[in-house]
Amino acid sequence: MKQQYSQILTVTPKPFVKWAGGKRQLLSVLAQHVPEKFELYFEPFLGGGAFLFHLISKNNSLKCNVSDLNSNLILSYVTIRDRVEELIAALEIHSKNYFKNPKQYYYQVRESNPKNQIDKVSRLIFLNKTCFNGLYRVNSKGKFNVPLGKYTNPNIVNKENLLAVSYVLQSKHISIKCQDFTKALENAQKDDLVYLDPPYQPTSDTAHFTSYTDESFDYKDQQRLLATFEKLDSKGCKVMLSNSKSNEILDLFSAHSKNIIEVNSNRFINSDSRKRTGHIELLIKNY
Ligand SMILES: C[S@@+](CC[C@H](N)C(=O)[O-])C[C@H]1O[C@@H](n2cnc3c(N)ncnc32)[C@H](O)[C@@H]1O
Repeated sequence: MKQQYSQILTVTPKPFVKWAGGKRQLLSVLAQHVPEKFELYFEPFLGGGAFLFHLISKNNSLKCNVSDLNSNLILSYVTIRDRVEELIAALEIHSKNYFKNPKQYYYQVRESNPKNQIDKVSRLIFLNKTCFNGLYRVNSKGKFNVPLGKYTNPNIVNKENLLAVSYVLQSKHISIKCQDFTKALENAQKDDLVYLDPPYQPTSDTAHFTSYTDESFDYKDQQRLLATFEKLDSKGCKVMLSNSKSNEILDLFSAHSKNIIEVNSNRFINSDSRKRTGHIELLIKNY
């Protein structure tokens, strides 16, 4: 199976969903801060996985432990890895139905609550490709609540990319799990690289977006993050953390202020395109 995909692999894998806080615009900055040498790579807030795909496209034998608390997202990774052809077939059906009547079909799928794996994952990817701003956002009951987007020709089935993602995820060196970040990092050791990209502490222009899962990530979680950062530091891990340039984060991480770098990013979270300007965020490293 693997060989078959490698023959048809025509593109470099990239995120198969748009994700709030996705790191595609920051890849070149993050890449500059990757240490020359490290052992395992941990990414416990995986989201769309932009940085993971970047790293494994440079080194396909990199040992990676990646995870996220969003169970539907992790199910998508696992399904793309293990059942990509069935998934592509299901997405092709979604695509055909969508183009007959976009609005009616979008809301029909948004209201549905499929139970089987292929239907669940094809629904997630379909909604992500056709919803407003390509965001995954749920309400407090875990229900996806984004309206239809304004696309004339959304690419619902990006077959080449799904095959490329499937191929790289089949590496025996990559472990993919659904879990909280503290659990994910229990086994990180000296010289492992950990990239932490949590939901950001809200600032005025992002305050409305905190809902990747039905549990929000609040200030107590940012405190847990600091404790985790310090524990990893004391174990000798190399840790790099992204977060907002907010007073709360600057205060929490004040003991690491020498290693705080300001980076300019162009984040597409705000639904008002006039407010979608580049802004400064933080990169905090312990090395
Ligand atoms: C800023 S996004 C990560 C974006 C990602 N780096 C990308 O390029 O798309 C934060 C992620 O943290 C996940 N998350 C929220 N709370 C979590 C927790 N307690 N443990 C692990 N992951 C969590 C969310 O589901 C979301 O995917």
